[in-house]
Amino acid sequence: MKHIEQQALAMNSPETYWQEQAELVAWYKKPQNILSTNSNSWHEWFADGELNSCYLALDIHVEQGRGSQTALVYDSPVTGKKQKFSYAELTSLVAKFADVLRAQGISKGDRVLIYMPMIPQAAIAMLACARLGAIHSVVFGGFAANELAVRINDAEPKVIVSASCGIEIAKVIPYKPLIDQAIEIANHKPSNCIIYQRPEAVASLVKPRDLDWQSQMDVAVEIPPVTVKSTDPLYILYTSGTTGKPKGVVRDNGGHAVAMLYSMKNIYGMKAGDTFWAASDVGWVVGHSYIIYGTLMAGCTTIVYEGKPIKTPDAGAFWRVCAEYKVNALFTAPTAFRAICKEDPDGDFIKDYDLSSLKRLFLAGERLDPATYHWLKDKTQLPVIDHWWQTETGWAIASTPLDDGNGNKIATKPGSAGFPIPGFNVQILNAQGQQVAAGKQGSVAIKLPLPPGCLATIYRDPERLTSGYLSTYPGYYMSGDGGYIDEDGYLFIMGRMDDVINVAGHRLSTGEMEEVLSAHPAVAECAVVGINDSLKGQVPLGLVVIKNGITISDTDLVSELKQSIRNDIGSIASLKDLLIIDRLPKTRSGKILRKTLRQMIDGQEIEIPSTIEDPAVIKELTDLLAPK
Ligand code: COA
Ligand code: AMP
Repeated sequence: MKHIEQQALAMNSPETYWQEQAELVAWYKKPQNILSTNSNSWHEWFADGELNSCYLALDIHVEQGRGSQTALVYDSPVTGKKQKFSYAELTSLVAKFADVLRAQGISKGDRVLIYMPMIPQAAIAMLACARLGAIHSVVFGGFAANELAVRINDAEPKVIVSASCGIEIAKVIPYKPLIDQAIEIANHKPSNCIIYQRPEAVASLVKPRDLDWQSQMDVAVEIPPVTVKSTDPLYILYTSGTTGKPKGVVRDNGGHAVAMLYSMKNIYGMKAGDTFWAASDVGWVVGHSYIIYGTLMAGCTTIVYEGKPIKTPDAGAFWRVCAEYKVNALFTAPTAFRAICKEDPDGDFIKDYDLSSLKRLFLAGERLDPATYHWLKDKTQLPVIDHWWQTETGWAIASTPLDDGNGNKIATKPGSAGFPIPGFNVQILNAQGQQVAAGKQGSVAIKLPLPPGCLATIYRDPERLTSGYLSTYPGYYMSGDGGYIDEDGYLFIMGRMDDVINVAGHRLSTGEMEEVLSAHPAVAECAVVGINDSLKGQVPLGLVVIKNGITISDTDLVSELKQSIRNDIGSIASLKDLLIIDRLPKTRSGKILRKTLRQMIDGQEIEIPSTIEDPAVIKELTDLLAPK
């Protein structure tokens, strides 16, 4: 069927369309009830279906005779280790780790928090939770103790699974002290911490709750997957919202499995036996969907890469991995290629490797800027596909299809994320909720229902689903992104319309950073805005007004504030600059005019709202903030 016909069918008869796609899944009990509404008035998919996501990712491939195929490659330039796990080996390890968790009292519906670097044990822990029907909540290893504590309080995990350390370029980060500190801060106290010991920094496991991964595995037995309902949660993944409190996006099992298998086949063009590399981190949604679930469910080989695009050891690292494991499709964030391009502008490293297996490059996490698009296309001569998605959707909302359904190529357009994927009815709306004309910018919204695999709720806060996404435009999911659809139907996502920023493909909340800065006793008020950055896309800039009578020097204050962001959120926040100013632009009701600040910083025409408290502040700040 042509892509355009699929879009129409999915839009007009979602149940028919997705019932057919659900055939991709080996259900324990095939669903008859395709689309229904739950007690939170939110739609749910395949409500009477039963399955197990770990079985679909592992056991099924062994049953189908692919047990000896490599399921997971671990490649770690930061430690020098390389390791391969066949589907049979990985299934056995996961089945044993499920027993380790079971022995600690974990069963269906219990939460397990996973705070791990990019090592195979992260995948094993996630899949073991899925095997038991337990709900994992993976926290990115770059988050500091305070962020971890916030997630511990919300998810209330019985058990934390972690490693003794993470390894960054030339820096070992012991995790155990961070976990102990987070548990100290948190109100909720997990009963156990299972720690995988790494030789680079062995943790002392002295607390009664501490358990050693390997000793537990040594006495574990392999246990089978349990049956869960399609609507049972598979995981919670916290993501930044506009307020300081992260949102716990809940993913179901059934809709997710359908979306994963559908997308591997239709968006990425992958089949069993292929090698798919999502160069991301298991702490992000890309890692959940395409380092772990989608790639394994499709019977492909996945790569857990513990390294960076540059400096581990050089800008040829990605090409080396692609050549060494015969990667068929690579998926990463544009920032990674901007870093590579900066170090190797002529693409000399590309010539050192045999990339004949590599068929396509997929980019997401932030807009693929046309300059990076052209560089990549020119240097690799491969299709370069920007596709747009969010933690909330769990898979791509828009992409350029592999072909039109009749074998004809569809051209990519620089700067565009392609066309809506069947099932996502994307519309551009104005402030009144009306569709705007082609080429005009507006708020990017998706008409309900969302297709399978998207957020099931916000953990412990279903009201936030309504207030955060559904109340602005009744009948639509508001993505928070701004953009337009051009005359040819290509979608352009131009950036967030709220206080979320995207730093090196990491989604961060400026509101959260403001909370940290405001907590300093010298700070009267502050604002954090995202400013353009040639490498990371955006970086935060802090503007701080200090209290009268404060004696601390500006230099000391700036360094204390920067340190508190690193301590409370993590170094990934990359707070680049902090300016101490006399006052912030505000409305008469006291609301800080962040949009006006962003316009000044980006050198755009400044729209001064009529409600401004004192227009003179604009003049005061314009010179200071103008792009240098
Ligand atoms: N654990 C602990 N610390 C981490 C971390 C982790 N998992 N990831 C990053 N950090 C730290 C870094 O060590 C660095 O600390 P420093 O300021 O003390 O040096 C800080 O956070 C910023 O790191 P990063 O954002 O990685 O910036 P960088 O300048 O070191 O590297 C890039 C720039 C572009 C190479 C890097 O950002 C990158 O690889 N980006 C791709 C991101 C990506 O894949 N995102 C997934 C979306 S699909
Ligand atoms: P995350 O939830 O961390 O995946 O971040 C989602 C946000 O990243 C989106 O709302 C967009 O702002 C941005 N984003 C992701 N992919 C793209 C893309 N291909 N083009 C433009 N923005 C993107």
